[in-house]
Amino acid sequence: MSSNHDEFEDANRVETVRIRRAPAAEFVGGNFYQRVGGREFFKALTDKFYEGVAQDEVLRPMYPEEDLGPAAERLQLFLEQYWGGPSDYQELRGHPRLKMRHMPFKINPKAREHWLRHMRAAVDSMVSSGKLPPADEAELWAYLDRAATAMLNTFED
Ligand code: HEM
Repeated sequence: MSSNHDEFEDANRVETVRIRRAPAAEFVGGNFYQRVGGREFFKALTDKFYEGVAQDEVLRPMYPEEDLGPAAERLQLFLEQYWGGPSDYQELRGHPRLKMRHMPFKINPKAREHWLRHMRAAVDSMVSSGKLPPADEAELWAYLDRAATAMLNTFED
């Protein structure tokens, strides 16, 4: 093989790597997880959310455990993984299969509304503390709203 050919191959390799890493957001400042500050952000978000759940007459009775801490951590790790962070959730819990995992609970439009109400308060607290830029807030909220709709499993009261 000539050295010219090697150079040609190297050039190709560099080009391929550059193209693979090209999504604009990666250049602007990392994926969503990195942009919002990683684990600290998701911990604060889910802690705030579960403060609301702890007081909620519709949601609180659904949680089998006395201590909401482990449930908060599962949601935290899931969201971290979804938004481009480490895959701790998958390692601890396996494939998310969220719709299936929610089947034991009655998730009607009222439960969805309550869930989203506490999530809204949690997201707002991240915005007001300057941890969540508006464009990221819109993306996060659109996802949560859609995911909460996907979790509906009954329309009965
Ligand atoms: C729509 C209303 C919802 C209700 C009423 C609800 C309720 C619950 C309940 C009662 C649990 C069991 C607590 C536990 O042991 O972890 C749970 C688990 C979980 N929920 Fe939800 N949820 C809702 C929506 C969502 C959404 C939209 C997401 C994701 C964006 C989500 C993510 C999770 C995760 C990751 C777990 C832990 C699953 C596991 O590993 O076992 N939930 N949820």
